[in-house]
Amino acid sequence: MCGIAGYIGPREAIAIVFDQITRLEYRGYDSAGVAFQREGGIGILKKAGKLVNLKQLLETEKPVSHLAIAHSRWATHGGPTDENAHPHFDQHDRIAVIHNGIIENYFELAQELSAEGHVFVSETDTEIAAHVIGREYEKSGCLTAAVREAAKRLKGAYAMVVLSVDDPNRIVAVRNASPLVLGLGEGENFLASDIPALLPYTRKVIVMDEGDLATLSREGITLEDGNGEEKTPEVMTIDWDIEAAEKGGFPHFMIKEIHEQPESVRACLAGRLQHDGSVKLLNTLPDDVWRRTERVTMVACGTAYHAGLMGAYLIESMLRIPVEVEYASEFRYNNPILRETDLAIVISQSGETADTLAALKLAKSRGVATLGIVNVVGSSIARECDAVHYLQAGPEISVASTKAYSGQVVTLALAALYAAQVRGVSTDLAASLALLPTRMAETLCVEEQCLSIAKLIRDTQLMFYLGRGADAAAALEGALKMKEIAYVATQESPAGEMKHGPLALVEPGVVAVFGSTDPVTRDKVVSNIKEVKARRGTVIGIGLDHPMMRNVCDEFIPIPDTGSHVVNAALSVLPMQLLAYHLAHLRGCEIDQPRNLAKSVTVE
Ligand code: G6P
Repeated sequence: MCGIAGYIGPREAIAIVFDQITRLEYRGYDSAGVAFQREGGIGILKKAGKLVNLKQLLETEKPVSHLAIAHSRWATHGGPTDENAHPHFDQHDRIAVIHNGIIENYFELAQELSAEGHVFVSETDTEIAAHVIGREYEKSGCLTAAVREAAKRLKGAYAMVVLSVDDPNRIVAVRNASPLVLGLGEGENFLASDIPALLPYTRKVIVMDEGDLATLSREGITLEDGNGEEKTPEVMTIDWDIEAAEKGGFPHFMIKEIHEQPESVRACLAGRLQHDGSVKLLNTLPDDVWRRTERVTMVACGTAYHAGLMGAYLIESMLRIPVEVEYASEFRYNNPILRETDLAIVISQSGETADTLAALKLAKSRGVATLGIVNVVGSSIARECDAVHYLQAGPEISVASTKAYSGQVVTLALAALYAAQVRGVSTDLAASLALLPTRMAETLCVEEQCLSIAKLIRDTQLMFYLGRGADAAAALEGALKMKEIAYVATQESPAGEMKHGPLALVEPGVVAVFGSTDPVTRDKVVSNIKEVKARRGTVIGIGLDHPMMRNVCDEFIPIPDTGSHVVNAALSVLPMQLLAYHLAHLRGCEIDQPRNLAKSVTVE
């Protein structure tokens, strides 16, 4: 996601922070900027687009400084424009701020500040935070105290770095959930959102804890905890290489992204799912559209299509509105039947998939309301839709989609909950969603077991993925992961369909993965498992813990209950992702860039 860099010391600061931010490019971004101390105030230079645009601006302006901070932004609140790029000033252009994360209560704070006469020049939550800090600074005249006090007003996950015109030899940084690391040098100090940005300059690193506030000068770094108590920093010496550090210590982006899911889902729910179970959505369709919708058509490709199937189960079961999920490549040529009271939901991680974009244009041309479920802010699909709900998952780098899948399911679930709210339908889905980040973290603990199962089935040539209801939709996604990265041929279908043909393929050596996250169909699934066992196939069960499942499966991976079959089924995809990853790794496959596949398919 966004990147943060900072430097204070005798060297040319802008060149250093620009280099640091370049080292975070792999995280994805769509605008960038720097703030620096100079004669007569703080200078800010920022540009939408790639770092080359900022570089050109820096080459034209040629600023020099001993203290600078830099930011690469991955748009969330407000599109990727020059104005929305960081850094942002406070009300009086005396405080400059860069920020990663989301200020969840930004709307409430913006209203409060507007009433006091504050005027904003961007659409970002960051500018609101800058104004909150500026307001505190007016009271105390101390930058560290102003940041400490302002942090008490900010809700959400953030890492924030702040400069003041009046204090040209100080950088103040605060973190709450979003990462921030400090780098120690001789007569110089550094900071960054991620370790790779520090490694060319220093290997002595302090990882800031939740709630920590740091003040950097040339001479040193002071650190205080969330209660304002000074603390002794723990200095670590980093001995990883840069490439490993970019992946946060993981060998591949895919496994890093699998493990990011509890956090990315938390970010997706933040500010949307309220404690009382209600849902607040900015930039959604007018309530009138949610109320009048009589049928939903979802269009998507690949993993996004599988997420759509989960969304369909949720909408149909909760709202009793019929939902059709269509492959975008089929929809666009099938002369689809669309009515004025339909809603088209367009799902895409990249927001650039050619078929999905064409399907969206077709739906719009028929006068149907369109909602985008998109990860990349400002992408073509996001711009074309009447309304867009972003996944807030951060950039996904591995071609095989993992955290975007869970983000799509959760974003669809939030839309379904919102529709239920508008239509006066009562549901208990909110409680299951609220539990999901914790349940995901618990589920990821089965990684060791997935690795040992992968070792057992290392040479398999054919795998079945089966389940009933939402487990059948999860099976499609589990099978897709397996073929995409481990190149194992798969056969996936609702479990009940198996005996109508695919069962003929079962013989010793064939592995069948069965999902069972719904107690209602457990008996039926067990019967299907027995059909495979009778033909000496190997069975891996994934689902709610139950003696019958443990007894009948060769291997059983338990997942915790969220109280909702559909949410459970989406959760059961996590062990399937891990299984595919470890099998691919054991087989020596190219994991992040599998053969023949592309991350974003912008051709038909
Ligand atoms: C490609 C990717 C898949 C992705 C699909 C749809 O095939 O390899 O991982 O699911 O495109 O992409 P989108 O960006 O529209 O979600």
